[in-house]
Amino acid sequence: MSNRIIIAIDGTSSTGKSTLAKRISKKLNYIYIDSGAMYRALTFYAIKKKYISTSHFDKFKLINDIPNISIDFRNNPENNNFEVHLNGVPYEINIRSLEVSNLVSEIATIDELRKQMVNVQHFLGNSKGVIMDGRDIGTVVFPNAELKFFLEATTELRAKRRFDELFLVDRNITYDQVLDNIKLRDNQDTNRKHSPLKKANDAILINTDNLTLDELELQLFSYINPLILKNL
Ligand code: DC
Repeated sequence: MSNRIIIAIDGTSSTGKSTLAKRISKKLNYIYIDSGAMYRALTFYAIKKKYISTSHFDKFKLINDIPNISIDFRNNPENNNFEVHLNGVPYEINIRSLEVSNLVSEIATIDELRKQMVNVQHFLGNSKGVIMDGRDIGTVVFPNAELKFFLEATTELRAKRRFDELFLVDRNITYDQVLDNIKLRDNQDTNRKHSPLKKANDAILINTDNLTLDELELQLFSYINPLILKNL
């Protein structure tokens, strides 16, 4: 029996999901898929095509354009990470901007787009040995995942973490802008009609407020190790 499993990590933004998932994937030699990067890449595309801005959103133009959009993940040999590609081009830096962050939750409400993204996610999870983070991985994408985590942390702490990251690349950004963005996305991601953010019944709830990344990693491995050994 294969010992490779699917690990789903869901939760609100900046709870440490992607940092932890990346660390764990390296230790297990698993593929890490950042599903949020897919919605960010779609948003970047929609901005470039002028389908969306802060003042308008032409949802149907974007939906009609779906056949022309290809999202996949390719290994970056420099850091050995799987990075999102939009129509064959990597946009890892561009998709992290505040402009994209402010519009991505709107894009992520569209069911037609979500269905396409879930197809890609299923394909990537086919061979197991995958750790995927997002909002609906344990509930919709891989409801049968062998292990599911749901990470939470207070809004202010998440905003502080995100601000510290963004400030390194954008000195004009303010803490309040980041806090507002996190509140906006929490609200949209939790209350949307299709695949809203919610803890799967069988997900393990982890509060990341007072724990270091090392402590969190240990905690997650205390659930992962027995499962992997059991499946050997
Ligand atoms: O993980 P992130 O913050 O980079 O995700 C960006 C946005 O994408 C998030 O606000 C909601 C959306 N998203 C989603 O709807 N479903 C996922 N599985 C992952 C992200």
